[in-house]
Amino acid sequence: MNQNVLIGPFVQLLPMSGLPLKGPLKDSQLPIIYSGGILVSEGKIAKTGTFEDLIIEANQIHKIDGEQVCLPGFVDSHTHICFGGTRARDYALRNAGVSYLEIAKSGGGIWDTVTQTRKASQSELEVGIRERAQIHLQNGTTTLEVKSGYGLSVHEEVKMLRAIQNANKQLEIDLIPTCLAAHMKPKDWKGDSSYLDEIISKLFPILKSENLTNRVDAFVEESAFAPSEVESYFQEAQKFGFDITVHADQFNPGGSEVAIKFNAVSADHLEASTEKEINLLAQSDVIATALPGASLGLGCEFTPARKLLDAGCALAIASDHNPGSAPMGDLLTQASILGAFEKLSNAEVLGGITFRASAALNLKDRGVLSPNYIADFATFRTNDYREITYHQGQLKPSSVWKKGQQVFESK
Ligand code: NIG
Ligand code: FE
Repeated sequence: MNQNVLIGPFVQLLPMSGLPLKGPLKDSQLPIIYSGGILVSEGKIAKTGTFEDLIIEANQIHKIDGEQVCLPGFVDSHTHICFGGTRARDYALRNAGVSYLEIAKSGGGIWDTVTQTRKASQSELEVGIRERAQIHLQNGTTTLEVKSGYGLSVHEEVKMLRAIQNANKQLEIDLIPTCLAAHMKPKDWKGDSSYLDEIISKLFPILKSENLTNRVDAFVEESAFAPSEVESYFQEAQKFGFDITVHADQFNPGGSEVAIKFNAVSADHLEASTEKEINLLAQSDVIATALPGASLGLGCEFTPARKLLDAGCALAIASDHNPGSAPMGDLLTQASILGAFEKLSNAEVLGGITFRASAALNLKDRGVLSPNYIADFATFRTNDYREITYHQGQLKPSSVWKKGQQVFESK
């Protein structure tokens, strides 16, 4: 017989269930179970309800002390936490008035991190991933996407993706790997064919045979790849069965149209999206992903989250944690700040880092607390869920649970 473990009671349990994937959300739409409990069986949610009602079905009870609010574990659908070195120099240069693209042209930027990442061994990269991922977990994230993209050769991209795969085996948080070999054109490329052709013919088969990822990303931008260059790349990626995701409209519009054309799972950044791109995204199934950490790191405007939602988009919010544009890496802080600037409801902010973010990763087993979903959740010491965004990330989780097991408890 399955062991049913009852966890609770929670003053407020927010399952984030039954909400629309697309469009605006009001706080009044949020289902709240008062004095709630979660019945867990074999790592999955068997039932949610009031603690009292569930006691009869429990073989074991894990009592939660004091007043705590429970939310689904956060899903951070866009990070680059596999890297070597630092880009503090870039940050200082930007704050002295040099632009991100100017720094990239003069040898800094992504290429600087490529150089530093190539110098690191696979096991050194694994250590960095583990340390950063552990901080994300303690901040309430239970699923974390991680991109390659600082290798920019077949060998170095494989090294990065193997490091992500190995780190994932050693961690409680789930890492979702993505191949971002199309992050920029490698400055040292000397092959006869084009760089992307080499990635298609040599890297894609390895990704499949070693099961390193099922997702392919590209940076569509003047300093990286033009829409026409990534179109044939994505066509080939889709033949291999990869999901597509795009770094789109960060400085100039263009990438989101490619994302829509290829029915990508998500188009991320969108700081430069105009009304035209916003309306096209709203008519598509592509999840629009805001990356406020990049706006905070670069000191530039936020993704027009309010307009995207009002037009009818599904809005996810991710940290973009990376050494260049988004070194902070604190999802809840960034999502809360985006909410304040863009006038987002709690439901929109919390939906953007739970069920809407899991849709951006094409994951159908997490992001809400409903029967048969993975029992991933975070608890906060408060009696009102609104305190969570109000404190803009300073109210940290008191505990984090992965597959029904407590994996973190604050002291
Ligand atoms: O999402 N925009 C491109 N890629 C990353 C930045 C990477 C870097 O600067 O190292 C991003 O912001
Ligand atoms: Fe990114």
